[in-house]
Amino acid sequence: MTASTQKPPAGALDRLRGIVGPQGFLDQAGDVEPFVVDHRKLYRGTTPLVLRPESTEEVAAILRLCNEAGIGVVPVGGNTSYCGGATPSSDGSQVVVSLSRMRRVRSVDPLNYTMIVEAGCVLAEAQAAASSVDRLFPLSLGSEGSCQIGGNLSTNAGGTAVLRYGMMRDLILGLEVVLPDGRVLESLNSLRKDNTGYDLRDLFIGAEGTLGIITAASCKLFSRPTSQVTAVVAVPEPQSAVALLSRMRSASGDCVSTFELMPRFALDLVLKHVGQTQDPFEERHNWYVLLEIGSGRYDTGMRAGVEADLAAAMEQGIVLNAVIAESEAQREKFWRLRETIPEAQRREGASIKHDVSVTSSELPRFIIEASAAIQQISPEARIIAYGHLGDGNLHFNASQPAQGDASQFESLAPRINRAVHDLIARYGGSFSAEHGIGQLKRSELQRYKNPVALSVMRTIKQALDPKGIMNPGKVL
Ligand code: MLT
Ligand code: ZN
Repeated sequence: MTASTQKPPAGALDRLRGIVGPQGFLDQAGDVEPFVVDHRKLYRGTTPLVLRPESTEEVAAILRLCNEAGIGVVPVGGNTSYCGGATPSSDGSQVVVSLSRMRRVRSVDPLNYTMIVEAGCVLAEAQAAASSVDRLFPLSLGSEGSCQIGGNLSTNAGGTAVLRYGMMRDLILGLEVVLPDGRVLESLNSLRKDNTGYDLRDLFIGAEGTLGIITAASCKLFSRPTSQVTAVVAVPEPQSAVALLSRMRSASGDCVSTFELMPRFALDLVLKHVGQTQDPFEERHNWYVLLEIGSGRYDTGMRAGVEADLAAAMEQGIVLNAVIAESEAQREKFWRLRETIPEAQRREGASIKHDVSVTSSELPRFIIEASAAIQQISPEARIIAYGHLGDGNLHFNASQPAQGDASQFESLAPRINRAVHDLIARYGGSFSAEHGIGQLKRSELQRYKNPVALSVMRTIKQALDPKGIMNPGKVL
């Protein structure tokens, strides 16, 4: 079940070029360069050809030909994968298929609260299409200016509004998918209810391009919140943040859309390396939460309610201080504190990253135990545990010691990963909560995934892609 590892024959490459025409491919070294290196620069591959189809029919013709010839195909969206999920192998045997020319919003139906977008549509453009008809497409990520809907679907992207709206899987009604043999699975309906057999749609979401190429999706839309409160809240410890979340969720009737945990060290790095924001308080605290709550026109007392609840939480000692954004500019500064943490950490030097989840209530204990486990291996490592507390999903990262050597620290990655992921397994948690598997976490999947689940995954892969042409070397 593997595609050829030989370079594709010249004749096959010519036929592929013919499918997309002169505007639809790149084959010069300088032009293909952005497609052979991953976002984190962990992987470098090579490819003879990047295809840029303009239609579902062209994608179908490409896959039909590659399937016949046994040529591996790597689908790519905005190339923002954290796990090397869209980088070709280094043997030059695989062609890349970029969906970036299929970026149309095919239709928007504000009355049905749905829209149909093509896979190459940039997430920010999809959000804008929804807001142009006074609707919300709620998926929200740091990379939303460049990541594409197809990549969001293939990785089942999460982000900072999952708490209220769910992950990408929860935001989709129907899909159009080209199967490895070139058949088109047309199931682009916008129905809320359709119980007609197996749910094939969910197979392709999160499959990281290993079962076919998603070309379009029918997305759920929501009402835009008209009253919104954004606050930065200082808390004594993560346990208090969990208690605060529960309080705000029940007080608001589940209108909390964002609840992001940030340690002091993350703020220090943002203020040092990124700037264009400021410390929200005069005094330093150990832990912070970025909180956003939104509601509709009927809810006019929201801000007063949030203030009263935060004040009551202060009296209880689970909140130390809080500041509510007074303007859109201040809100953006608050968001900047959170959204630029990955960039700030990158600029601080080497880091070893984990994308783990446990239940929200177990997160505080996990942070203590996992920090101790890392510090046994590298006593000077600087832990930076931040992220989606409301989803039980933390980016539990370690930055190199302040005075240390980057490559020496990176050489500890296998031991540190093992310690963190073994601990996660003991909690019954996930070692990859939102970033997927790609190339980076294949061995972790083999080690930690339930063997029966792995075997079912292999059976599905074999049934849909018997020649193994779709994104070879990823996931399984
Ligand atoms: C985030 O939540 O900031 C992203 O998932 C990226 C990261 O892991 O750093
Ligand atoms: Zn994240």
